[in-house]
Amino acid sequence: MLDKSRMAARRISSLLSRSLASSSSLLTKGRISGVGRVVPSYSTSSSVNNPITPSVKVNCTQLLINGKFVDSASATYISPNPIGKTFPTYDPRTGDVIAHVSEGDAEDIDRAVSAARKAFDEGPWPRMTAYERAKVLFRFADLLDKHTEELSTLETWDNGKPYEQSAKIELPMISRVIRYYAGWADKVHGLTVPADGPHHVQTINEPIGVAGQIIPWNFPLLMFAWKVGPALACGCTIVLKSAEQTPLSALFAAKLLHEAGLPPGVLNVISGFGSTAGAALSSHMEVDKLAFTGSSDTGKIVLAAAAKSNLKPVTLELGGKSPFIVCKDADVDKAVELAHFALFFNQGQCCCAGSRTYVHESVYDEFIEKAKARALKRRVGDPFKAGTEQGPQIDSTQFKKILRYIRSGVESGATLVAGGERLGNKGYYIRPTVFANVKEDMLIAQDEIFGPVQSILKFKDLDELVRRANQTRYGLAAGVFTNDLETANTLTRALRVGTVWINCYDVFDASIPFGGYKMSGQGREKGVHCLSNYLQVKAVVTKLKNPAWM
Ligand code: NAI
Ligand code: MG
Repeated sequence: MLDKSRMAARRISSLLSRSLASSSSLLTKGRISGVGRVVPSYSTSSSVNNPITPSVKVNCTQLLINGKFVDSASATYISPNPIGKTFPTYDPRTGDVIAHVSEGDAEDIDRAVSAARKAFDEGPWPRMTAYERAKVLFRFADLLDKHTEELSTLETWDNGKPYEQSAKIELPMISRVIRYYAGWADKVHGLTVPADGPHHVQTINEPIGVAGQIIPWNFPLLMFAWKVGPALACGCTIVLKSAEQTPLSALFAAKLLHEAGLPPGVLNVISGFGSTAGAALSSHMEVDKLAFTGSSDTGKIVLAAAAKSNLKPVTLELGGKSPFIVCKDADVDKAVELAHFALFFNQGQCCCAGSRTYVHESVYDEFIEKAKARALKRRVGDPFKAGTEQGPQIDSTQFKKILRYIRSGVESGATLVAGGERLGNKGYYIRPTVFANVKEDMLIAQDEIFGPVQSILKFKDLDELVRRANQTRYGLAAGVFTNDLETANTLTRALRVGTVWINCYDVFDASIPFGGYKMSGQGREKGVHCLSNYLQVKAVVTKLKNPAWM
């Protein structure tokens, strides 16, 4: 398992850290505005100021309800005819509009839930054999593979993540997740229970019903797969709300699912905003289960909405402030590379980003120098350009928020050793930023920054480290870098987090359960554990007359 994980991590790391031999000639001086300090930074502003034109057409922009693409119920009046209301989705490389997509609101959620309800209560999906359902999912996975280029292009265009990451890392993970759950569809068993008394007791796992699913923008298609894969395998029907920043790939993928044979009404996709469509979905009385991925603040809102409406069970995959721990025996070069990957992957927009880098004092100074050098070498640029490691942040809100955190780091006394400002003058690019001498009481060590900002802290001994690493409201993941088995075992058990990666990071095999302790969430996604989110357990007790044995 460890070998497999290491190989996967190495594959991802090597893809993201191509030969950077020529980069030193591109080193320029960048200024940190308002701070007056000069920090050297790797610049590719020429590439970010001349965006490459993507080669796909955006075809799916309407709401998907009951197997049909339809306009939203609310109308925008463009004289002389009313048309369904739309909102723009933007290209984070430029801030320009990519397309206008139909904007779902409460009435559209109602229409979608009615379709999903009917498909569950009367339709073929929960009634067909699990093997038939699996075949639809397998066909869908084949179509995802076939359309990798279009899907990856839409994903990169809408989100800003490197195209190579979309096409070579994420799309294969996405079809893998779908195949993984296709494989589970016909292996969901109940139990025969040895109860006291003359009773035959069995449990039946039934699909929970209509699932409401709300996904974020950082991994739009991957989150789509994590949500729809297990729900469909279990025989549920779905209303999925995509994130307003990234509506395009979910619509295209849902179209492929219908081509694969999904009956109408089983998966309905609504593009729209959180406070309207999202709120309507989480408080809907006819939705039987809610799955949410996003911020902890919004997690609280949807949990309360679920409680106040029909008490639907909720699974939450929320934020994090995950420690990445470099122990004293670490090979510093390798530790620097992995810590860099753990934080900067996906522009730092990962719920499980290793955003508190704890380094043992004996290797701290060397680590800082090398972490700085690595950040300065990071290739930031147009995500469609081959070799780009980092694209723009998702939108202007996140971009400004990250720059505010950087200012707060400087003002609170952390040492800025790399980056610290925007790159270019178009879109939402931020230079890879590294802070040394970070302390736990600083905001940058407490809050989820969700950007390319590495905060490095020093530690002395393991007991102190465990106390500090656990001193957070979050508990999503942790990375441990050590060759010492005892240290690894101690930390594995002491850290209050849902995933511990030892000598690897961000290994997201479909079979590995993922989720958080504390305010990082409730429940688990992926793996066998996720199936129970979409199942009801029914106990069937039959009285026995004169049983031959009990
Ligand atoms: P968010 O949590 O508000 O958005 C995530 C999803 O929830 C989106 O689909 C959004 O439309 C929906 N939503 C928002 N308000 C809602 C409501 N009242 N009812 C129902 N659904 C609602 O996150 P946002 O604003 O996009 O990003 C803010 C911060 O959240 C980020 O800076 C980051 O720290 C964190 N975040 C964490 C993610 C993760 O993977 N755990 C993913 C995205 C953001
Ligand atoms: Mg967009």
